[in-house]
Amino acid sequence: MSNIKAVITGIGGYVPDYILNNQELSTMMDTNDEWITTRVGIKERRILKDKHAGSSFMGAKAIEDLFSKTGTKPEEIDLVICATSTPDHIFPSCASMAADKVGIKNALAFDVQAACSGFIVSLSTAASFIESGKYKKVLVLAAEKMSSITNYTDRTTAPLFGDGAAVVLLEPTTEEVGVMDSLLRTDGIGYKHLQMKAGGSANPATHETVENQQHTIYQEGAYVFKHAVVDMAEISAEIMDKNNLTKDDVTWLVPHQANLRIIDAVVQRTGVEYEKVIINIDHFGNTSAASIPLGMWESENKFKKGDNIILTAFGAGFTWGAVYLKWGY
Ligand SMILES: CC(C)(COP(=O)(O)OP(=O)(O)OC[C@H]1O[C@@H](n2cnc3c(N)ncnc32)[C@H](O)[C@@H]1OP(=O)(O)O)[C@@H](O)C(=O)NCCC(=O)NCCS
Repeated sequence: MSNIKAVITGIGGYVPDYILNNQELSTMMDTNDEWITTRVGIKERRILKDKHAGSSFMGAKAIEDLFSKTGTKPEEIDLVICATSTPDHIFPSCASMAADKVGIKNALAFDVQAACSGFIVSLSTAASFIESGKYKKVLVLAAEKMSSITNYTDRTTAPLFGDGAAVVLLEPTTEEVGVMDSLLRTDGIGYKHLQMKAGGSANPATHETVENQQHTIYQEGAYVFKHAVVDMAEISAEIMDKNNLTKDDVTWLVPHQANLRIIDAVVQRTGVEYEKVIINIDHFGNTSAASIPLGMWESENKFKKGDNIILTAFGAGFTWGAVYLKWGY
């Protein structure tokens, strides 16, 4: 094992200006603020209104934010990994498009598809690239235009999702900070219960698939909920045990933001106090892979060097996991 660790040295983010609140949603479908707030915990979400701007547009904005905050130049970046379920196109990758928009020309760029767990999978992957000694400045981006795959006539999914992007810069260090450990899991049992039914190689787009709304998110909410509650809570507790972290040793818990009740279950299982939990579901909704880095972006000024941070996520596949970080600045 090398003694090189991968540490986050900067963070950037971007959310679109347009705010879709529960009141406006209630004029579009049979729902109401009270149901969405009590069952899910969302008040409003951001929507990228420009039909021709995709996830790479938001990803590039997030990278520009990171560059201006850290003074990093595009030519210094040697790897870009983008977690997304909503790339601008099936190919080329969102990573290559976002990289191009900000002038990154000397880097490998590729996407990771692990649905809502995409950021922690990408972070863990990027950390391995750095620990190998081969890469020095890596962008781990998560960019999601969830509104592009949301069916705004389906009240069981439409209130849940929002758009946004965030990115971290990962660099090598020999200090005892950075990505300390990760536990990542997949179970194909989730396939039928959370998916986009058409548009892929098994069911390419036809007039019928469009008419039948098969290019948007299909979710059996209660089934997914049961697995998310157990799997996120257990894997968070497992990574804490494995690293001898008590609830008091954890400085911050940054969970994926799909439902406040799922976050509550993680809090109960781990015992981590609620004040240490980063929440953005109320104002951003579920931004899929972007929810964890957006939470870190908004909380950056609270984090201190050496803070023990647990990230945890659950998403389609099913795929889920947890990452243990020591904050580096
Ligand atoms: C989607 C989710 C919020 C639905 O909440 P729920 O408590 O499970 O709600 P249900 O689907 O059981 O529906 C309960 C009732 O509310 C109704 N309902 C559903 N959506 C509604 C809405 N937007 N407004 C008002 N009523 C609604 C349902 O029709 C149902 O009514 P019924 O009892 O008369 O049939 C929840 O299941 C969830 O968060 N699932 C997990 C999401 C997740 O983790 N995804 C993976 C990562 S993205």
